Amino acid sequence: MPNFPKVGILGAGQLGKMLCQAASPWELPLYCMDKAIDFPAGPHCTGFAEGDFKKYDDVLAFGRQMDLITIEIEHVNTEALVALEKEGKTVHPSPKALAIIKDKGLQKQFYTKHQIPTSPFQLLDNKKAILEAILDRRLSLPFVQKTRTAGYDGKGVAVIRNQADVTEKLLEGPSMVEEMVDIEKELAVIVARNERGEVKAFDPVEMEFNPVANLVEFLICPAAITSQQAEELTQLAKKIITAFDICGLLAVEFFLNKSGEILVNEVAPRPHNSGHHTIDSAITSQYEQHLRGILNLPLGSTKAVQPAVMVNLLGHPDFTGPVHYDGLEECLQLEGVKVHIYGKAMTKPYRKMGHVTVVADSIEEAKSKARMVKDTLKVVSKELSKK
Ligand SMILES: Nc1ncnc2c1ncn2[C@@H]1O[C@H](COP(=O)(O)OP(=O)(O)O)[C@@H](O)[C@H]1O
Ligand SMILES: [Mg+2]
Repeated sequence: MPNFPKVGILGAGQLGKMLCQAASPWELPLYCMDKAIDFPAGPHCTGFAEGDFKKYDDVLAFGRQMDLITIEIEHVNTEALVALEKEGKTVHPSPKALAIIKDKGLQKQFYTKHQIPTSPFQLLDNKKAILEAILDRRLSLPFVQKTRTAGYDGKGVAVIRNQADVTEKLLEGPSMVEEMVDIEKELAVIVARNERGEVKAFDPVEMEFNPVANLVEFLICPAAITSQQAEELTQLAKKIITAFDICGLLAVEFFLNKSGEILVNEVAPRPHNSGHHTIDSAITSQYEQHLRGILNLPLGSTKAVQPAVMVNLLGHPDFTGPVHYDGLEECLQLEGVKVHIYGKAMTKPYRKMGHVTVVADSIEEAKSKARMVKDTLKVVSKELSKK
């Protein structure tokens, strides 16, 4: 058996599952902690501990049984990670960086401090403070409100365009409020780093959003941008991972605005939705790269083998109940269509149930097959046909 440390992952969702799959060829022992063993990573990990990654005691008890601790979600108890580090455990990403990233307000302040381009923002304590700021003209419409903690997949983000949105959409809780960006493209770069200081980035990808669910619908790699823009994105991603002193992966989400400026939106110090395609389209997958980064192994080649388009398989908006995949066989007939089902038992509107990567000789071909997949493969439920 290779001489690997015992690695613990906080979280056992789909990202955890795909980390376990990447660890399997090396027989690397990966343990997961989450609320229930029937979560996606449960059947794929070396060992599973039941616990709540938001609870200090649970994280501490789990971490003490490991040599190295990593995450697949950022909303974990960072105080326990600090304690584990003090006890001599290796923790990647560093709890210090994680504590900043978990809070969208601190994250924005970090960009300002390190002169990383991002949209102008202010921090406001609650809904009342936002309403006052609007009245005092310290805040003007349109703007985007983001709750500082606990948001994900578009939850915790409110786009406030007009007075009706002010009345209906404002969210409670401490918030980061930022200027609305006139978005030309949403782009992302996944970058990796190890303790010996190697840094490598994957090709920039372009994200196309579903305007209703605010979730990524198609992800296109490589992005249709100039080589100069790609270089700028890559350099920024490398600068940010180094400034945070992170080992493992950092996914950096960017906006390209209509005037051609590149702005950083947010980062995630873990495998990311915008890197799923690398499993099927690059020499090294983002998951293998995360393991290489946290274990201080040489980073793998990030070279793309083929153009790729990734489609998220989201729960159909009209169904809640035991999941059924309609149209799977038709999709599997298409060359280059790679289906990944996460193993969640129940579907809900817009829940991430899986993804499909289409690889082809050209982006156009991959896109047209991805559209076919999107129109054919439906995540529904047979038992309870309507919500
Ligand atoms: N300042 C902004 N201007 C315009 N659109 C935005 C802005 N911030 C976020 N959005 C839109 O909302 C989406 C989700 O916001 P994001 O901060 O990435 O939150 P999440 O944690 O849910 O991914 C973005 O991908 C983008 O489409
Ligand atoms: Mg985002």
